[in-house]
Amino acid sequence: MDRISLNWKNASTRAVGQQHGVSEKDLAALAGPIKKLTKQFADQRKAGELRFRELPYNEDMLDAIESQVEHFRDRCEVLIILGIGGSALGNIALQSALNPSTYNLMSDRTRSGPQLFVLDNVDPEMIKATIDHLTPKIKKTIVNVISKSGETAETASQFILFRDLLQAKLGKKYKDNILATTDPSEGTLREIVKAEGYRTLEVPPGVGGRFSVLSAVGLFSAAMCGIDIQALMEGARDMDKRVKEPDVLKNPAAMIAAVHYVLNNRGKNMSVMMPYSNALYYLADWYRQLWAESLGKQNGLHKKNVFAGQTPIKALGTTDQHSQVQLYREGPNDKVITFLEVERFSSKLTIPDSMKHVQSLRYLAGSNFQSLINSEKLGTEYALLESQRPTMTINFPVISAQTVGQFIYLYEVATSYMGGLLDINTYDQPAVQLGKDATYALMGKSGFDELNRKIQAVAKRDKKFTI
Ligand code: PA5
Repeated sequence: MDRISLNWKNASTRAVGQQHGVSEKDLAALAGPIKKLTKQFADQRKAGELRFRELPYNEDMLDAIESQVEHFRDRCEVLIILGIGGSALGNIALQSALNPSTYNLMSDRTRSGPQLFVLDNVDPEMIKATIDHLTPKIKKTIVNVISKSGETAETASQFILFRDLLQAKLGKKYKDNILATTDPSEGTLREIVKAEGYRTLEVPPGVGGRFSVLSAVGLFSAAMCGIDIQALMEGARDMDKRVKEPDVLKNPAAMIAAVHYVLNNRGKNMSVMMPYSNALYYLADWYRQLWAESLGKQNGLHKKNVFAGQTPIKALGTTDQHSQVQLYREGPNDKVITFLEVERFSSKLTIPDSMKHVQSLRYLAGSNFQSLINSEKLGTEYALLESQRPTMTINFPVISAQTVGQFIYLYEVATSYMGGLLDINTYDQPAVQLGKDATYALMGKSGFDELNRKIQAVAKRDKKFTI
């Protein structure tokens, strides 16, 4: 199996100096805590906790997904995912990483599955455009609504709209075009399912949204679109072996956490993920949620008001060399940058030599885009090093379902280690609720009148502050 690897040399003191790098002493100080966390994770798994870690071993779940795929595949030309946050980012990341960027533009015959639209926002124009597109193909449109709670306003509102649309166009048979992915026993969506009788898949209990991509949440759409979900799981299982290692020097997840933890303590409170690959860009988006929602916590497990966290940022190489790298080199030295690099792209793509007579472009003649993008990555790494900016690289020998499965599992476990080092609860998101409640209040949900009154003060656009 091709294996991804982590190289952290350019985040070490040897590379970027005492002030900005991670020293052997730093790592020696973390050896004990990492060992302890590794044991703690193993014990938690035995006790039935950290259930996201068991997903790659869940054969029953894969069978259930595959049976739904079998049911829907032949009669599906358009697949609509209704979900947000952890119920959407993984789907987008898998699709972008493992299918061509032109997937939706391909003909029905050449595409490996239905067109896929993940509606992870309530922008009316975006939703309307999608509806206009699918209406002529409504009979062959499958709506997969994904919500653990069923209460999320974005997903619920879209579901009501799409359910009505299907009902209006297909009559009583509309139910055949809906698949609901939700909690097996609880929540509003489960109640609706019980009342209306849709086909369902489960959001596994004990698995939070941002840790759920390797469940039915992310895998159904992936499998529908021809992605080898068995290979994804194989990759995740392979990574599981590597991240069980108690020695930080041998465990890539522990090392990602250790580097971020040490440097965060030195004021590097931003974590940039910069893939040199368009396909991997949305994995950086997925990572943003994982790192932000898991680690951004006011209170620790043992201390109040710790205000933990590191701001995750996504950047794209080479594009953002022409947008962000000026800041990354000469602005505040407050970032840890992780590059994702691809050793062998599925196509190298030759640069023709027809301009070799132009002296200043001759170096490009006969070369290829794979060499160019990887040279640009190395060039940027070198330039950042010159400015004492710490960087790490995750190397993908190739982009495949196996390597993407490894990457997902790697970062999920790295997040657990980072949360453990920060001594916070990695798996909750208490600060998200107030914004959700405020939306309920503004949209007139009963029981939220008092909150609505408070918000009205914020809504007032005082002329003194308006230009
Ligand atoms: O990671 C999370 O828990 C969140 O991003 C949720 O996935 C998101 O809020 C959607 O929640 P639900 O699946 O209940 O609709």
